[in-house]
Amino acid sequence: VDDVVTVLITGAAGQIGYALAPMVCAGAATGPGKKIALKLLDVEFASEALRGVKMEIMDCAFDACVSVDVFTDCEKACEGVDVAIMVGGFPRKQGMERKDVLGKNVAIYKQQASALASKAKKDVKIVVVANPANTNAKILAKFAPSIPRGNVTCMTRLDHNRALAQLGERSGKATIEVKNAIIWGNHSSTQYPDVNHATIEGKPAREVIGNDAYLDGDFVDVVRARGAAIIEARKLSSALSAASSVCDHVYDWIHGTKEGEWTSMGVISDGSYGVPEGLVYSFPVTCTGGKWQIVQGLSIDERSRKLMDESAKELTEEFELAEQCLAESA
Ligand code: NAI
Repeated sequence: VDDVVTVLITGAAGQIGYALAPMVCAGAATGPGKKIALKLLDVEFASEALRGVKMEIMDCAFDACVSVDVFTDCEKACEGVDVAIMVGGFPRKQGMERKDVLGKNVAIYKQQASALASKAKKDVKIVVVANPANTNAKILAKFAPSIPRGNVTCMTRLDHNRALAQLGERSGKATIEVKNAIIWGNHSSTQYPDVNHATIEGKPAREVIGNDAYLDGDFVDVVRARGAAIIEARKLSSALSAASSVCDHVYDWIHGTKEGEWTSMGVISDGSYGVPEGLVYSFPVTCTGGKWQIVQGLSIDERSRKLMDESAKELTEEFELAEQCLAESA
């Protein structure tokens, strides 16, 4: 049936999964009028916890949720999927090197790429959340060449929303009055939250805030380090805000961004703004008709250029390291 959307959540027994599954079943990702067939995947080790999540989703008796199925087999989980939300990943444990975590995760995304390519719907929309999100998405795209390039994205919407929230708080305005911030680059500490084109109640954000030193300094640091601040406070990483931002990402992709507004998404670079082609890089995008387009023609000052290039450089190196890890484990 056309109005049933099959949504896969991987890593569904984890923290984000627990917050995300009910939001998806309430229609936050796909919008009103759609029914949801929910598929939840996790590893064998987490299968009991996953079963518990399924029981809770059933007990929510969501109007829109027509089915909820759990899987530990990725191929079965990917069958017939319209929207794949890739949250599953290997966490960084104490004493692990960055390369070890990266290697484990890109190996997962290489394997899941094949499952998605062979079993999901041909026009499956994919959003990678699990870190390193941009590089996982690039690996996924590489090993799923039959999936259209535009269908593989990674989530930087949480960073985007964090930027809006900071600007709202600083200006004393509601977050909804803040538009068109941009996250450029990697979902990492080199990301560049750019306010040069942002507006607050329709006026340039720099004018409204009137403090460039803050906007070029603390603002950038706070957005970049927000994840760490949440861990510090909660003793757990952000899950609720990550889940909510995934829904925003998918919703806007399907239903379109509002007239005159854009959002930030990690997408495969076509060389726009001098970002090396093929990198999964966060850009300002608008969405229409279920497709995204990179916003063109924005002026980029010297400071922005430098910050954008730094993040691109990190992504190039991260991808090289990922390929090295895959070669070593082959
Ligand atoms: P978590 O550790 O609570 O959950 C991850 C789940 O993935 C676990 O249940 C684990 O068993 C599962 N998993 C591991 N390997 C798998 C595989 N091969 N297939 C399916 N599932 C698998 O972690 P949490 O807090 O839910 O975060 C998930 C990921 O999202 C992490 O990588 C985290 O760094 C990332 N993240 C990304 C954000 C973004 O803005 N892009 C924001 C917040 C978190």
